[in-house]
Amino acid sequence: MRVALTGTPGTGKSSVATLLQKQGYTVVRLHELAKQNGCIDGMDTKRNSLLIDMDKLHKYIKKNFITNELVFFEGHVAHLLKTMEKVIILRCHPKELKKRLMKKKWNNQKIQENIDAEIIDVILCEAVEQHPTKNIFEIDTTKKTIEEVAASILKIAKKNFQPTKTYNIGRIDWSEEILKDFPA
Ligand SMILES: Nc1ncnc2c1ncn2[C@@H]1O[C@H](COP(=O)(O)OP(=O)(O)OP(=O)(O)O)[C@@H](O)[C@H]1O
Ligand SMILES: [Mg+2]
Repeated sequence: MRVALTGTPGTGKSSVATLLQKQGYTVVRLHELAKQNGCIDGMDTKRNSLLIDMDKLHKYIKKNFITNELVFFEGHVAHLLKTMEKVIILRCHPKELKKRLMKKKWNNQKIQENIDAEIIDVILCEAVEQHPTKNIFEIDTTKKTIEEVAASILKIAKKNFQPTKTYNIGRIDWSEEILKDFPA
């Protein structure tokens, strides 16, 4: 089972991925996989981030991860890969997200861009373009510890998981926060 762990930067993908790895689960870091296998397309100099060739990465994963075992693919592009059987989107209230992003010491513009992206559901919109909605799940991490987020992920990733309202898409709506400024 290939499970995408995606979400706006700062929602906690890497933190929870590290915990899942410690618990013995297989986690693939997509940016590392892309770098190691010639799937980098260039550099976004404005954002100081690598551009991944998604076609190449998709082909690489399709060829090399034919498995019945549970594998998590972590990264904010994970939902763009059609080979994913389930897509888990980590969400975070903009006020809390700002706190988490501030820890990254990014500039204000980059922080604001990501808060805006979270408010307008960018990742969810991209995910529904690629996957049937029944395969997409959202976890609100705002008040959850990393351990609790990991437990939710493991529940959803189970083969016989029956969708419940808690993780169904469309329940999270930060749109009222759009015009608010969140003082640090
Ligand atoms: N559930 C949580 N509760 C509180 N703080 C958290 C939680 N998850 C992550 N954090 C903190 O938020 C910050 C961002 O987390 P992390 O780097 O894991 O996010 P990310 O989604 O991997 O971001 P990026 O896309 O930039 O790699 C870190 O300082 C981390 O310790
Ligand atoms: Mg990360």
